[in-house]
Amino acid sequence: AERALVDALMAKMTLAEKLGQLNQPPGVGNNTGPAAMAGSEDQVRQGQIGSWLGTQGAALTCRLQKIAVEESRLGIPLLFAYDVIHGMRTVFPVPLGEASSFDPDAAREAARIAAVEATAHGVHWTYAPMVDVARDPRWGRIVEGAGEDPYLNAAFAAAKVRGFQGDDLAAPDTMLATAKHFVAYGAAQGGRDYDVADISERSLHEVYLPPFKAAVDAGVQSIMASFNEVGGIPMHAHGPLIQGLLRGQWRWDGLLVSDYTGVMELMPHGIAADREAAGAAGLRAGVDVDMVSAIYLKDLPAAVEAGRVPLAEVDASVRRVLNAKFRLGLFDDPYRYCKDAGRQEAMTLTAEHRAAARRIAQKSMVLLENEGAVLPLSKSVGTLAVIGPLADEPWAMLGNWVGIGRPADAVTPLKALRASLGDGMRLLVAKGSDIDGDDTAGFDEAVRAARQADAVVMFLGEHPEMSAEANNRTSLDLPGVQEQLALAVAATGKPVVAVLLNGRPLSTGALQGKVPAILEAWFPGVEGGNAIVDVLFGDVAPSGKLPVTVPRNVGQVPIYHARRNTGRPPSKDDKYTSKYLDVDWTPLYPFGHGLSYTTFDHGKPQLASASVSAAEPRQRVRVRVTNTGKRAGTEVVQLYLRDDVASVTRPVRELRGFRRVELQPGESREVEFELGFEDMALYDARMRRVVEPGTFTVFTGGSSLATQSATFEVVAQ
Ligand code: IFM
Repeated sequence: AERALVDALMAKMTLAEKLGQLNQPPGVGNNTGPAAMAGSEDQVRQGQIGSWLGTQGAALTCRLQKIAVEESRLGIPLLFAYDVIHGMRTVFPVPLGEASSFDPDAAREAARIAAVEATAHGVHWTYAPMVDVARDPRWGRIVEGAGEDPYLNAAFAAAKVRGFQGDDLAAPDTMLATAKHFVAYGAAQGGRDYDVADISERSLHEVYLPPFKAAVDAGVQSIMASFNEVGGIPMHAHGPLIQGLLRGQWRWDGLLVSDYTGVMELMPHGIAADREAAGAAGLRAGVDVDMVSAIYLKDLPAAVEAGRVPLAEVDASVRRVLNAKFRLGLFDDPYRYCKDAGRQEAMTLTAEHRAAARRIAQKSMVLLENEGAVLPLSKSVGTLAVIGPLADEPWAMLGNWVGIGRPADAVTPLKALRASLGDGMRLLVAKGSDIDGDDTAGFDEAVRAARQADAVVMFLGEHPEMSAEANNRTSLDLPGVQEQLALAVAATGKPVVAVLLNGRPLSTGALQGKVPAILEAWFPGVEGGNAIVDVLFGDVAPSGKLPVTVPRNVGQVPIYHARRNTGRPPSKDDKYTSKYLDVDWTPLYPFGHGLSYTTFDHGKPQLASASVSAAEPRQRVRVRVTNTGKRAGTEVVQLYLRDDVASVTRPVRELRGFRRVELQPGESREVEFELGFEDMALYDARMRRVVEPGTFTVFTGGSSLATQSATFEVVAQ
């Protein structure tokens, strides 16, 4: 049916109408790029718009849809696209925080709720999930993905695609997901957004492509090209990776959208002399939809008519746009998403959605330090000093890319504390300092408050505008004078807890040993304050783990767990090894690290067999994990794998499994993992995917430093 309908339409379309389907103008008020312009209703009438960026709202989308359906010659419905990144109105933790849960099901649930709310606002297409592996915390967009690890990113990519798209794309509460940014966007040199990704073919295939493959396998309907170049070819003109790999090898038949003015940017990239050449290069590479540049619409008609651009290339892209509209059910009912205006009200920011946001925020928090078991705080703490610039800032709950989220919806920690004040508990509030700048005038008041208190909670971190698109930094320190403020408060000797609200790993080493408890809360979403208070007072034990290595200082970047050994691995005893003179080579906190209010014992991994072969290409690993403390808690059991000797160098260990296990005090459970051949495979010297005979070591534990291990052998057939 899809084919027949699309064929019939294609037969009727003029060249101008076809190019109109490939054109995506920005919505009013969208300011994510340099060429924002309002779309026009007349353009819709003339069939010059196929989809719209940043336009939402049941009434508005219905009105525009009506013009497209009733007043344009062919009545082809519009697609409405919106950046629904971590929630539409119910804002969930930022993706880096969400990934700290090591719970893809939670991400799927958040994406499902986001899709319910977004579609109720007439939106058909989200530009999420971002599945870019990020190993440079200077890069502001690290906040938008699942961190440094390809396996973790792949798991979250698949889960979120399934959440947004649901089981039936034509249902009125499901939408097109977009895996972005294809590809290696996170490898921007120097952490400068948009910069060159100068990576090897091996890291492209081993590190940056797997999350996209996972999204494709999960059925993702759309992919966005990235602003960077790879190997001298800007991604908006990268035929080998788009046509060759994505559409060819992976047989992906979805819709490829440019990033904002990405087609036009082929000119400053220096591979197109003018707009027509830029459009021709983008289309030839397989970029179907031209976001904002309006080059396909304005500059390709003459080129196609003169035979400089083949009509077949236009047709292939138009078909993919029409296919997407068909799959969403828009040809059956173009108003399917917007006609039930009551749904917008009824389905948005519901109590259930808020409850899910709170649960997911609880899971996303990572307890970095807890010396002397300062946390959880007693509910009869007496006087609690609340210090720091972020204690009562609603936008520090929401973070960036907040859809239609509103600060007024957000529960700040101070608000949550006030609402949950136990009997006889008193709050002393002092800001202490701004986020940035060098003003220390508030220090005295903060120190005075701390002195009068029984315990102190500090809310420190970044402004949301310090991470996300184009927000790169050369420092990973707490901005401004916040570190000095924390040290001044800690010098009072009171039990101090620092809660960090931020979008990238921060090098807070100076607080170690001085501030006994540090809770990484990221930007935790609309229910963030409540979730923080739940964790601070022990109603919920923290269970998050770091999805990214935290460096001691910015000079250690890049630093990530799945590194390869050199011939001279770092060693304390040998100067001539790979390390620094001034700082230890190890990170401040390793990937996968995160404490609980209890302790866990990880038994030795038990393997189902001593060897595996192609005839039985599976290994089962069982690990016993025991809660050895006095409180209930959830541990994320992690499995890492090392190919001990191979024909090419391999990472020292790679994440190959993780599982959240909830345990009561004294309770013990066995967790089982299954490793397949794909988990053991490598790209050989000729970039063929193979599993080589030899020994593999399995490591299991509570972080990437897991020490329990067992070895098995892959035997040749
Ligand atoms: O989806 C985004 C992308 O991630 C960055 N540039 C703008 C796009 C649309 O808003």
